[in-house]
This record gives sequence, structure tokens and C-alpha cells, in this order.
Amino acid sequence: MFKANDNFSKISENYLFSAVSRRVDDYCKANPGVDVIRLGIGDVTLPVSRAAVDELIKASSEQAARETFVGYGPEQGHPFLIEAILKNDYAARGIELSSDEIFISDGAKSDLGNIGDILSKDNTVAITDPVYPVYRDTNLMAGRRVITIPCLASNDFVPTVPRDVIPDVIYLCYPNNPTGTSLTYDQLKVWVDYAREHKSLILFDSAYEAYIQHSDVPHSIYEIDGAKECAIEFRSFSKTAGFTGLRCGYTVVPRELVSHDGYCLNDMWRRRQCTKFNGASYVVQRAAAALYTPEGKLQVKENIGYYMTNARMLIQGLADAGLTVYGGIDSPYVWVKAPAGMDSWSFFDLLLNRCRIVATPGVGFGECGESFVRFTAFNSRMNTEEAARRIKLLSKHTQSII
Ligand code: MLT
Repeated sequence: MFKANDNFSKISENYLFSAVSRRVDDYCKANPGVDVIRLGIGDVTLPVSRAAVDELIKASSEQAARETFVGYGPEQGHPFLIEAILKNDYAARGIELSSDEIFISDGAKSDLGNIGDILSKDNTVAITDPVYPVYRDTNLMAGRRVITIPCLASNDFVPTVPRDVIPDVIYLCYPNNPTGTSLTYDQLKVWVDYAREHKSLILFDSAYEAYIQHSDVPHSIYEIDGAKECAIEFRSFSKTAGFTGLRCGYTVVPRELVSHDGYCLNDMWRRRQCTKFNGASYVVQRAAAALYTPEGKLQVKENIGYYMTNARMLIQGLADAGLTVYGGIDSPYVWVKAPAGMDSWSFFDLLLNRCRIVATPGVGFGECGESFVRFTAFNSRMNTEEAARRIKLLSKHTQSII
């Protein structure tokens, strides 16, 4: 008699973005032909960078010839990509890591969920609220206790270290999804010091690192002294170079990272990956490595500039409409307070029905996200301009709402 994992009863029936997408599909079915602008899920719209596409084509053709064919690669990734990451993302910032501390994967989301395989079910896990739902849902699925750290406008969305319950594992995502805010060196150092003092582990999601504009915002948690003994960092090529479909990211597990009961997490993660993962696709890793060439770097920079101009446009449009707006400076996400005491889903519905704009309801990211919605800057310039125009128009016609 088999039994299912009854921890699934502790999570909502649908993943946040599937629930939103269902609601939007229903709207589109009921209103055929309407031009809906999607600023909901953080999926990019610019195509994959040219440098990466050229390499994809080359690597794919090599797969067609016996002499150049490549089969299974190392589970932790091909050395050509690992070396490019070490040199450009770390050594260039004065961070020393070795090649066996980098693990290439099919994206940050999988690793952020899978990392639980090497952690005890008895750990208490802290997540910020609002939060990227993957941290909460995967830990509830595994049966771990999850506590939340409120991030509110009143504390500038900066999480405060917990004092009543000391968590064993802490997820931090900066630049933040969903609030779009960032942490300075000093603010992140507070967390690193706390984790070292309490022997906690920080799981640092750095998927939006490329969007950082402020000079006092760290690009990697390892820029903070001591972080290698308490933090794992997750990175992704999805939002920087249009890899949401291709899938590639990487995770850094320093060798210094040893659990309270004496396990080297690097050894465990390698063991886990070798057992459950055959490595990211070779052609996709070749494409990712091309992002570190001079042309690749330039194209990534242009993509980020494009989306950040969209973010500024959105912020302006929303502010002109009289709305209170946060984020969107070091991040492609803009966090918006719903007007007139509306809750997240009511504002979502108003935006969809009156403006034909899809946002993500803030409450889907946690209780503290209630009465907010999140916009992404990932749509095209034309659609972003049009979205800002529609929101302004809404405010003109409905002074009592906005
Ligand atoms: C988001 O919209 O929060 C992200 O696109 C989700 C993801 O990266 O998995």
C-alpha cells in the first residue's frame, strides 16, 4: 500500500504563477482578441544574445559529427564554463574560489529546490515574507518547519535577523524578488555575521545580480568576509541573457562550508548531483560560456540596460498615476502598493479588467505581500510604454480608486 507525501497538503493547490496564468487564460477566453500586456511572471522577451546563439549553432553542428560529438559531460559542468565563471564573476571581484566549488545546472530554481536533499529535515528554515514561493513550497514539501521574516515598507523591506527562534537555514534573495529592493554591504554583513555566530546556513539567491546599479550593493555574498563558511550562492543566466527557455545556471558551494554535525556540503552536493543529475546540456553550456566573451558581455549589458529603462518607465507611469512604488532600481521588479485599501487580487482584477495588464498579486508571495502587486520590466519597450499609458488613463477616469 503506497502512500503519498502528505506534506503536499500544507502547500496551496497551485503554484503561484500557474494560478495567475489560469486566471489570465479565463479572461482571454471570455474576451477573445483583447491585447493583454503581461507584466506578471518574470519571463524575458528579448531573444537569446547573438554571441550565445552563434555558439549554440556551432556546438549543435559539432554534435552531428563523430569526431566532434560530445556525450555525457561532468555532472558538475564543463571546465570551459566553470573557468569563465570563476574568472569573470568571482576573480574579477577579488573573490577566490576553485573550480570544484562551482556546479553548473539547468537553472537556479531547480538548485534552490534540490538543495534540501543535503539538509536535515529537522532544520528550521527562515524565509522573508514576501518571498519567491519556491523556498517556502519546497521546504514545506520536505516537512521542514518554516518561519517568516516580515519585509515591510516600514522597514524599507530590509529583513531583521530573528532573535526568538534561531533558524538553521536562511534563504535570502538580493536583489530581491518580489520587492525589487536590494541590500547594501553593511546590511548583508549583518546576516553573514549572524549566520556565523549561530552556525546557520544562508542560501543566497543571486539570480538578479546583473541588474545591480548601486555601488554599495554587493554582487556576491562572498564579497562579505566569512561568507564562504556559511553561504551557498545561486546564479542564473535566465534573466541576463534570455536563457529562461534554454535553462542554465550555477551554484557555488564553498569547501569551507561544514555542517554543525561535521559534513562537508561541497562533497554532499557533488554526491547528490552525480546521483540525480547528468549535467546541463553541453550545447547550452557552450552558449553560456559565450556570454563571457567581449561581444557576449556587451550584449548582456545592452539587455540589462533595455529592461532597466523599462523599469524606469514603469516607475514613472505608476508614480504619475499616484501609486506608491518600490524597487525597480537594482532589479527588474517593481513593487506597487494597491490604492484605496484594495487587496492584491482586487487590484490584480482591476488591472486586468480595466487596463488589460497582468501583474502578480503580492499576497501570492506571502501574507506581507497583501495589498501589493508586482510588475516586471521584462516586456517589450512598446508594451511597457503602453502599460504605463493605460495605468495613467485608469487613474484619470477613476480618481476615487487611484
Ligand atoms: C518570477 O516571476 O518570480 C520568476 O520568473 C520565477 C522564476 O524565475 O522561476
